[in-house]
Amino acid sequence: MRTAVGIIGGGPAGLTLALLLHEAGVEAVVLEARSRQYVERRVRAGLLEQNTIDVLEKIGVDSRMHREGVEHSGISLRFAEQVHHLNVMELTGRRMMIYGQQEIVKDEIAAVLERDIPIFFEASEVAIHDIDSDHPSISFTRDGEAERLDCDFVAGCDGYHGVSRKSIPAGVRKELEHAYPFSWLGLLAAAPPLSKENLYAQHEAGFALQSMRGHEVSRLYLQVSDRDSLDEWPEERIWEQLGLRLGRVNEGPIIERSITTMRSFVSEPMQYRRLFLAGDAAHVVPPTGAKGLNLAINDARLLGAALASHQRDGDDRALADYSSVALRRVWRAQEFSKYMTEMLHDYGDDFQQRVQRARLEYATSHEAGAKTLAENYVGLPASADF
Ligand code: APR
Ligand code: PHB
Repeated sequence: MRTAVGIIGGGPAGLTLALLLHEAGVEAVVLEARSRQYVERRVRAGLLEQNTIDVLEKIGVDSRMHREGVEHSGISLRFAEQVHHLNVMELTGRRMMIYGQQEIVKDEIAAVLERDIPIFFEASEVAIHDIDSDHPSISFTRDGEAERLDCDFVAGCDGYHGVSRKSIPAGVRKELEHAYPFSWLGLLAAAPPLSKENLYAQHEAGFALQSMRGHEVSRLYLQVSDRDSLDEWPEERIWEQLGLRLGRVNEGPIIERSITTMRSFVSEPMQYRRLFLAGDAAHVVPPTGAKGLNLAINDARLLGAALASHQRDGDDRALADYSSVALRRVWRAQEFSKYMTEMLHDYGDDFQQRVQRARLEYATSHEAGAKTLAENYVGLPASADF
C-alpha cells in the first residue's frame, strides 16, 4: 500500500488529522491498534475549548455535538465553604462545550468511513521503518497477514504508550516530566448534575470536581491517594467525600469508575525527519486544566495545515516550524495545568494551603486574576504560530 501520510493511532489526534487532510485533498491511511468498539467506549475527558469546537465545525463533525453537547459560559470555584462563579464568556468573549471525548471519536470514525478514508482497526505489530530516508514505511499485521504502508510522512498519533515517540533516536529526544503525589478517581453517575457548570472544589479533605455528560449524567472526580485502588473506595465513601468537598451532590447509580495518575510529560522535539508526533504521543497533562484533548486537536490543526502546504504548494516552512509552534501551546498548557493542579489539591501542607487560598482569592475577587484563569481555561485563540 502507498499513501501520502501514514497516521498511527485512531484517537482524537489521528482521526482529526485524517479528516483535515481529506478536507485539503491530501491522502492518508489510519492504523489503529484497538477495535472500533474499544476506542468508541473508552471514557476520557470532555471539555472542549472554543478552538476545538471550531476545528470540529471545519471538518463537519459538529452536528451531534451541537445537539447533545452542553454549552458552558463559565465555571465555579468552591473554597472555604463558599462557591464563586467565574463568567468566562464575559471575561474572554469565548465559550466552551461539554461533550465526551468518546462521542467525538464515534462521530469522527463515522465521518472517516463515510468519506472513504482508509482506516484499519486491530492493526498489530505496528513499526516504523527508514525514518531517516525520504521513503519511510510502516509495517503492521492485519488479520494475521503482514502488511506494509509506504508513505511520504508518518504522523505518530498513538498516545503515550505508542511506538512513534520511541522511534525517535534517544540522543535526539528529550523527555521532561513532573509527577504529582496523588491520583484522581473518576466516575460517571446516572444523576443530573447539581451544578449547571463545572464546579472545582478546594477542600482540606482533597480536591473534587463536578462535570457532566449531557443533562442526565454527572461526571465526578475526587483526589485520592496515589496508592489507592478502587477497593478502597466503596460507593458510600465516594458519595460522602463528594458531598463534603463539593458542598452538595446529586447521587445516582455509578455507571463507570477508574483511577488516573496525575503527571506532566513532554517529549521534545515533536518531529524527527519525516516523523511528526501529535497529541498524547508527545505530551501528557494532568486533567485539572482539561487540556489533553484540546492539545491533541490543536496539534492536528497545525500538522494538517503544514502537511497540506507541503503537498499542495511545495511550501515546507510550516512543516519545519511545526514542532516549535506546537510546543509553544503545549508549554502554555503545561504551566496552566500545573497552576490549576497546585491551586486545588491537598498537599497536606499548611503553607501550601495558605498560598492556594491567596491564589483562589486573587482569581475570584480581582479582574486580572479572573481574566488570567478564564483566558487559559477557555484557551488562547488559535493562529498559524500558536
Ligand atoms: N499502533 C496503532 N495504534 C496505536 C498504537 C500502535 N502501536 N499504540 C496506541 N495506539 C492507539 C490507541 O489505541 C489509541 O486509540 O493510538 C490511539 C491514541 O489515542 P489517544 O490515547 O486518545 O491519544 P490522542 O489522540 O493523542 O488524544 C489525546 O486522549 O488520553 C487522552 O487526555 C488525553 O484527552 C486526551 C486525548
Ligand atoms: C470532564 O468533563 O471530564 C472534565 C472537565 C473538566 C476538567 C477535567 C475533566 O478539568
